Amino acid sequence: MNEKKLMDPQDFDQWSAKYDEDVKRSDDSNQYPFVAYEEILDEIQKEIQKLPGKKLLDLGFGTGKLSARLYQSGYNITGIDFSEEMIKKAQCLMPNAKLISFDFSQGLPKNLDEESFDGIIFTYSIHHLNLEQQIHLLNTLKHHLRPHEKIIIGDVMTHTQQEMNDAKEKHPDIWDDEEFYIVTEALQARLPQDSIFFSKKSYCSGILILESPSNP
Ligand SMILES: C[S@@+](CC[C@H](N)C(=O)[O-])C[C@H]1O[C@@H](n2cnc3c(N)ncnc32)[C@H](O)[C@@H]1O
Repeated sequence: MNEKKLMDPQDFDQWSAKYDEDVKRSDDSNQYPFVAYEEILDEIQKEIQKLPGKKLLDLGFGTGKLSARLYQSGYNITGIDFSEEMIKKAQCLMPNAKLISFDFSQGLPKNLDEESFDGIIFTYSIHHLNLEQQIHLLNTLKHHLRPHEKIIIGDVMTHTQQEMNDAKEKHPDIWDDEEFYIVTEALQARLPQDSIFFSKKSYCSGILILESPSNP
């Protein structure tokens, strides 16, 4: 098993220069972790376009691959990321976006207390939190969603634990045991009041759409 430590902001700073290249290589070779990455981004963009409003929050936006596309088609983007180098890259693509340096394991920054959004996105970022932190953050975010709006997550993800175990077995050498990938039936069990829809995009990835009936 790999002896890996949890990634900190400096690790992402270092990765920022090669990030897009690494993602493309993994997607092109249909391999964990970024297999179906472009398809997932395209699909999320379509889901976002179905929402009535244009104000979005992207958590862990990285180099801005998804949010910059949305920005360019007229969306109002607020983003949170804790890597200064990722923020610099994304800000070049989205000069007027509100990009905030913050660790989302701590929830949302105070200056967003009063803000609400039409859609909240995570792509390949929520897995940096453990399950308890994920549940806590998702519950916090519901307070920032406009009524009947959605949280959309694209990531390494499966519906069942067996599917996740099978995916891990394919890649014992590169599987990252320090990341916490969502198993949608387990997440649904922890958030029984919410509707969770899962769309599988590969053997190890997909899109989850969470709707909270009340958006408290
Ligand atoms: C794997 S990259 C994903 C980037 C982008 N969303 C994408 O789809 O390509 C994960 C991003 O999440 C950010 N991140 C990870 N943990 C974070 C945390 N606790 N708080 C804020 N940002 C975090 C990293 O800095 C990085 O930019």
